[in-house]
Amino acid sequence: MSGYTWFLTGASRGIGLETTRQLLQSPWHTVFASCRSPSTATDLAALSSSGPGTLHIVQLDVTNEESIKSGAAEVLRLLNGRGLDYVINNAAVNLAPDTAFTFSPEHLTDSIVSNVTGPALVSRYLLPAIERSNRKVIVNMTSTLASISRNCGPKSTSYSISKTALNMLTYKQARERPDFIPLLVDPGWVKTKMGGNGAILEPHVSVKGILNVVTSATLDHAGKFYNYQGKEIPW
Ligand SMILES: NC(=O)c1ccc[n+]([C@@H]2O[C@H](COP(=O)([O-])OP(=O)(O)OC[C@H]3O[C@@H](n4cnc5c(N)ncnc54)[C@H](OP(=O)(O)O)[C@@H]3O)[C@@H](O)[C@H]2O)c1
Repeated sequence: MSGYTWFLTGASRGIGLETTRQLLQSPWHTVFASCRSPSTATDLAALSSSGPGTLHIVQLDVTNEESIKSGAAEVLRLLNGRGLDYVINNAAVNLAPDTAFTFSPEHLTDSIVSNVTGPALVSRYLLPAIERSNRKVIVNMTSTLASISRNCGPKSTSYSISKTALNMLTYKQARERPDFIPLLVDPGWVKTKMGGNGAILEPHVSVKGILNVVTSATLDHAGKFYNYQGKEIPW
């Protein structure tokens, strides 16, 4: 293996699928694309022969610690002692357009499990491979809805709380490991199942921007919050 190694969650569709597609356009990329159900991830499987990059599809459900542990172990095995250059915690759920006085406790808990605990455990179990890399970039996919300064209003309370917590996790990762580049990226409002048809951006535009931001990230970006164009977003 030469070039760069990448791992991402939620590669079955949306931004994760498009990220995998764009990465495979370079022969220098080895991509460990994870999804919770490889047998039904037909669009991802179709990328196997798209090359010239190398694709490994890995089963990983971010709500299940055992699945994260075994998915990470599989990646470490395939890396065979090599470092993991980029980890993209992309998988997430937005379960309801709930509000602070109408939310269901189950939705809030499930949002935290998928959008915070999952990404935290993914990075923790992949730590030995990240430590062996010269890049050590962890990309936690967040949302402008996580920004209190942006004053986004009452909707999507559980999702927003979970993404604000993910922001804090990223800050903590950066403080604990000053040799790592953990950063937050908001993809913009993108036409995916989560973003809906009314969204503004095509996935390929958002992902091109995200990949520019993360491949040029330095230690100065660690623990900070950016949009897909590389502009810093206020907390
Ligand atoms: N689209 C937007 O406008 C927008 C805006 C701001 C932030 N974001 C963020 O961007 C990221 C990608 O969003 P998207 O728009 O591509 O969403 P999406 O179209 O809904 O895709 C979500 C992906 O996450 C996966 N996923 C969900 N739960 C999972 C689990 N338990 N284990 C593993 N994978 C799981 C889904 O897999 P399955 O196919 O198995 O369900 C799917 O691949 C998310 O972090 C999201 O919060 C998106």
